[in-house]
Amino acid sequence: MPTDTPFRTRELMPNFGVEVLDADVTRETPETMADIVSLFHRHGALLLRGQTMSPAQQVTFTNLFGPPADNPRKEYTVPDYPDVFVISNKVVNGRNIGDPDAGTGWHYDMCYDRYPGLCTILHALEVPPEGSDTLLSDLCAVYEAFPAERRQDLEDMVIHYSYISLQEMKGNVITDLHRATLPDVLHPMIRRHPINGRPALRPCFGGTRGVVGMPNPQGQELLKELVAYATEERFIYRHKWQVGDILVWDNNCTLHKGTPFDKTKHVRHVHRTWVQSPKEHYLDSAYA
Ligand SMILES: [Fe+2]
Repeated sequence: MPTDTPFRTRELMPNFGVEVLDADVTRETPETMADIVSLFHRHGALLLRGQTMSPAQQVTFTNLFGPPADNPRKEYTVPDYPDVFVISNKVVNGRNIGDPDAGTGWHYDMCYDRYPGLCTILHALEVPPEGSDTLLSDLCAVYEAFPAERRQDLEDMVIHYSYISLQEMKGNVITDLHRATLPDVLHPMIRRHPINGRPALRPCFGGTRGVVGMPNPQGQELLKELVAYATEERFIYRHKWQVGDILVWDNNCTLHKGTPFDKTKHVRHVHRTWVQSPKEHYLDSAYA
């Protein structure tokens, strides 16, 4: 951990994730914010607690990591802030004001995109007293722990991802625009981090059609097995939310999911932004 910064830090778990203390993201200098972003790129996840951030400030914060990514589901974005997506079970005038069910299976964000999310930023405005934890799996630790002889077999494997199959699985509406703009894509099973170079074993099951060159059900079974391995307890950071938390995770080297909570009793209201990966980070990926 650096000692020449104006803030203290602590790891979220051994060798993964970092919490920055003593910082207010709306008031720090550009130099301090650059230090915080640099820490994030080394640690895979970043936590700041007790933050107050308007949608406009969240967009500014997001831009420190890169240009915000588009949200395919416009119906749940904050009015006038199309980059800020609402995850919420609040109902106003008989209508959900946010997505009540975002991300309850293991995945990384925008896996179905030619250029997936570099990072995901959540800011908690209301949180239930129990449940709705966010779990992050450290895929660099997964790579290092995975048996070396089998790891070699995975080295050249490619996963076939599909936005359409993901939305069909969720029962969501698929528009002609989705079909036209989100064709199936191919991403490698093992990914070198584009900034820090560390290898990660990055399997995914939801939103995939299988493994290239491997018939199903074997391909799907392999993905299921690898996701089960990658999400064993020893690789997991469990985030228990407090109001004001900002949690940022790196989709290059993590899988994540949310845990359930009692929606009949409690409210979860979160603002999410995504940062799109630059094209040069995905030279080893392709359209299917
Ligand atoms: Fe997600």
